[in-house]
Amino acid sequence: MATFTSNSAAETESLGRDFARKIDKGDVVALRGDLGSGKTQFVKGVVAGLGSGNEVTSPTFTLIHEYSGGRLPIYHFDFFRIEDRQSAERLGLDEYFFGDGVCLIEWADKFPELIPPNAKWISFTTKSETEREIAT
Ligand SMILES: Nc1ncnc2c1ncn2[C@@H]1O[C@H](COP(=O)(O)OP(=O)(O)O)[C@@H](O)[C@H]1O
Ligand SMILES: [Mg+2]
Repeated sequence: MATFTSNSAAETESLGRDFARKIDKGDVVALRGDLGSGKTQFVKGVVAGLGSGNEVTSPTFTLIHEYSGGRLPIYHFDFFRIEDRQSAERLGLDEYFFGDGVCLIEWADKFPELIPPNAKWISFTTKSETEREIAT
């Protein structure tokens, strides 16, 4: 368990880049924390750190974003707009979890029973307008 304090969006992205070095094929990264706490910013860093040049945005209508061109394929989910467990299950998550890449899931705590037990959880807490606590 490690806790970091980030003082800017760029710093959170940089923490994501560092974290990407420890990511392997099959990893599931479960992100929790309120709206605006920096989850997507962190994902940007992870995606860049894995070497993909793809642009990262929140998966809202499409539900899943895939980023390629890096060391591993990346699957980015966001449970924020998913209303019930059945809708979440319809995403066919297992195929991604046990696939050839890594999965990053924002709002993973909304359906914790769908997250595999070996997932790496990261918690984001807003401390002030620019300060975020990030706990792994
Ligand atoms: N230390 C920080 N880390 C991350 N984001 C920050 C930080 N300080 C301010 N921000 C701002 O907070 C917002 C975080 O948004 P985002 O990463 O989309 O959050 P989430 O995905 O958790 O809803 C951005 O507008 C960003 O510029
Ligand atoms: Mg987000």
